[in-house]
Amino acid sequence: MRALTKIVLLSICFAVLAFLWSGPRFEAETLRGARVLVTGASTGIGEQMAYHYARFGAQIVVTARREKVLQQVAEECLRLGAQKALYVAADMASESDPEKVVDFAVEKLGGLDYLVLNHIGPSPFSMWQGDVDHTRWLMKVNFFSYVQMAWTALASLEDSKGSLVVVSSLLGKLSSPFVAPYTSTKFALNGFFGALNHELAMKRSNVSISICTLGLIDTEAAMEKVKGVTNVPAYPASDAALNIIMTGATRQQELFYPWFTQVVALTKDWFPSITNYVIQNSYSYDQ
Ligand SMILES: NC(=O)c1ccc[n+]([C@@H]2O[C@H](COP(=O)([O-])OP(=O)(O)OC[C@H]3O[C@@H](n4cnc5c(N)ncnc54)[C@H](OP(=O)(O)O)[C@@H]3O)[C@@H](O)[C@H]2O)c1
Repeated sequence: MRALTKIVLLSICFAVLAFLWSGPRFEAETLRGARVLVTGASTGIGEQMAYHYARFGAQIVVTARREKVLQQVAEECLRLGAQKALYVAADMASESDPEKVVDFAVEKLGGLDYLVLNHIGPSPFSMWQGDVDHTRWLMKVNFFSYVQMAWTALASLEDSKGSLVVVSSLLGKLSSPFVAPYTSTKFALNGFFGALNHELAMKRSNVSISICTLGLIDTEAAMEKVKGVTNVPAYPASDAALNIIMTGATRQQELFYPWFTQVVALTKDWFPSITNYVIQNSYSYDQ
């Protein structure tokens, strides 16, 4: 067989494999009228997710702490085409707010199809100096509130054959300097929701869980932290938000965005010393 024919056949094989691996097709129509709760939606990726859901004609509840900003996000959602857009201010460090927010959404929307857990509390980007209280507080905001909200929403999601979408990070798969408290909360999320995913599958539950592993995304908060410290490329928040929504809507278990985060996650187990070297040298640090 001539070399050219071999190359063409090989390319066709790769194209077919790529198509098969690309997972189920996203149908935007399935989100029309969908009942969605997005946390951390006053800014960043959460805000962008609210706008995408709105363009798809969903019914949305947005939550975060700043009421005035949430009101503006909800108004923008209505302008973009949301069938409903409501907001509820809440502090996810509180014992009671996570449950109250889910109850509010279920009551106002008459059920829930998507619970998108996305919020994070602010955390310094610096060497860890022993601030145990901050680590404990961050665990409440970034982890325990997710667990509480998932539990409160589970029955409604079961009724609607709904989806739980958890926004995590590459820093939930591999450790990196300057973010010890943050990275712990993301590892905890991956562990907890990975286990829950098994249990739901074993119980033949209707609920799907999608865990989204993100690399650096160009939100204001993230860019402010890494300014002048790293040259790692940042990817657009709006595109990250759309990929998260599509992953939830197609009930896929995992998203890696951008794609190379999956390669990085694999490489750290295969070549730990090289990965550690690259991580430690991708930040500028003056002793
Ligand atoms: N940006 C990145 O580079 C990146 C990379 C990997 C993963 N991620 C993940 O993507 C998600 C969104 O990140 P982002 O960059 O968009 O974050 P962000 O811009 O900092 O937004 C955080 C959101 O959480 C809310 N929030 C903060 N503290 C809260 C509290 N105590 N109670 C309730 N809400 C609270 C904030 O609103 P209020 O201040 O109004 O409360 C805001 O809406 C996070 O899960 C993050 O870990 C981001």
